[in-house]
Amino acid sequence: MMKKLSVLLSLCLLLGLTGCGGTAPSRAEEDGAPSLTTAPEPTPEPTATPEPTATAEAAQSPAPESSEEPAEPQGGKSLVVYFSWSGNTEQVALEIAGQTGAEVFKIEPETPYTTDYDEMLDIAQTEQRESARPAISGELPGLDGVDTVYLGYPNWWGDMPMILYSYLDAADLTGKTVCPFVTSGGSGLSGTVGTIREMEPGATVTEGLSLGSGEAASCGDAVAAWLTEI
Ligand SMILES: Cc1cc2nc3c(=O)[nH]c(=O)nc-3n(C[C@H](O)[C@H](O)[C@H](O)COP(=O)(O)O)c2cc1C
Repeated sequence: MMKKLSVLLSLCLLLGLTGCGGTAPSRAEEDGAPSLTTAPEPTPEPTATPEPTATAEAAQSPAPESSEEPAEPQGGKSLVVYFSWSGNTEQVALEIAGQTGAEVFKIEPETPYTTDYDEMLDIAQTEQRESARPAISGELPGLDGVDTVYLGYPNWWGDMPMILYSYLDAADLTGKTVCPFVTSGGSGLSGTVGTIREMEPGATVTEGLSLGSGEAASCGDAVAAWLTEI
């Protein structure tokens, strides 16, 4: 009888121990719990950081919220200004306008250019050699309330067509962001971004978008990527 009792007792003891052993994983869970309570601790840190405004400017999205709000309405209109002789740059211009909601102004010469390619090559070369400023047809669009100007042109003889110089001479882009885009047979932007920076020292000129003539018709993705980048 005594033997049976002691066997029963030791069985109970054993069961009790296994019960404690079973709590081990739940301790691990508990261990997780404090780490959850420690996790929120960093949250007050950012709230405390606002004091050193200069150092943590970028990190604090909550604080600048109030100062970001007025920036949006201020960041007013955008405008696509472009010249296109054979239509490629125009396709890109319209794509940019479609993606940004910008208004569009097409630069047209007062005296229309020839439609003959070889003749156009000669005329463009002559204009360039003479630093011509071909007159632009009609009135230039006002720039009040415009903060971004997407400026498009084909590459002509490794440069902007001279009528772009006419536009940059006439328009004051001080304080505006100018985003140049070009289509070309392969020359790309050449030195045109630098030229625009020189001609408009008061403007912020972003990186340009360069597309080949054959890419203009399906430029949606390239335009979207560029817009995101700039
Ligand atoms: C007068 C003229 C000069 C050109 N010069 C160049 C050039 O130097 N480099 C180049 O890659 N493409 C050159 N091209 C090709 C154009 O840049 C290209 O076809 C462009 O996409 C035309 O744009 P558009 O259709 O908007 O006029 C020239 C075209 C013309 C008409």
